[in-house]
Amino acid sequence: MELKPGLSALVTGGASGIGKALSLALGAKGIFVTVVDLSEEKGKEVASLVQKENAKFHTSLGFPSALFVKCDVTDAGRQKST
Ligand SMILES: NC(=O)c1ccc[n+]([C@@H]2O[C@H](COP(=O)([O-])OP(=O)(O)OC[C@H]3O[C@@H](n4cnc5c(N)ncnc54)[C@H](O)[C@@H]3O)[C@@H](O)[C@H]2O)c1
Repeated sequence: MELKPGLSALVTGGASGIGKALSLALGAKGIFVTVVDLSEEKGKEVASLVQKENAKFHTSLGFPSALFVKCDVTDAGRQKST
């Protein structure tokens, strides 16, 4: 699959490590990223960094190009309510 600006991705465990690296790499290609993680502080920081990367591709969107969602991905009930 070709990665093009404007596509969307959801990265679980995106607040640190491999997930953070993936989120930033996707953001550097202009892809909208939803960062899902247990860690709110780190996850919001990654979403902010992705928005900065995305700004090189998208201007005047009128909505955030990256979001953080706090969720335990092992908890099915929490996933449904998020
Ligand atoms: N780092 C490596 O070189 C490497 C190599 C092979 C495999 N792995 C595996 O890849 C995975 C990620 O590794 P990493 O180094 O990026 O780890 P990491 O600890 O840096 O990142 C994991 C992220 O997932 C989040 N997380 C953990 N449980 C969660 C849950 N239930 N719901 C939502 N978020 C959750 C954590 O808060 C953290 O931000 C691990 O399972 C690790 O064993 C890592």
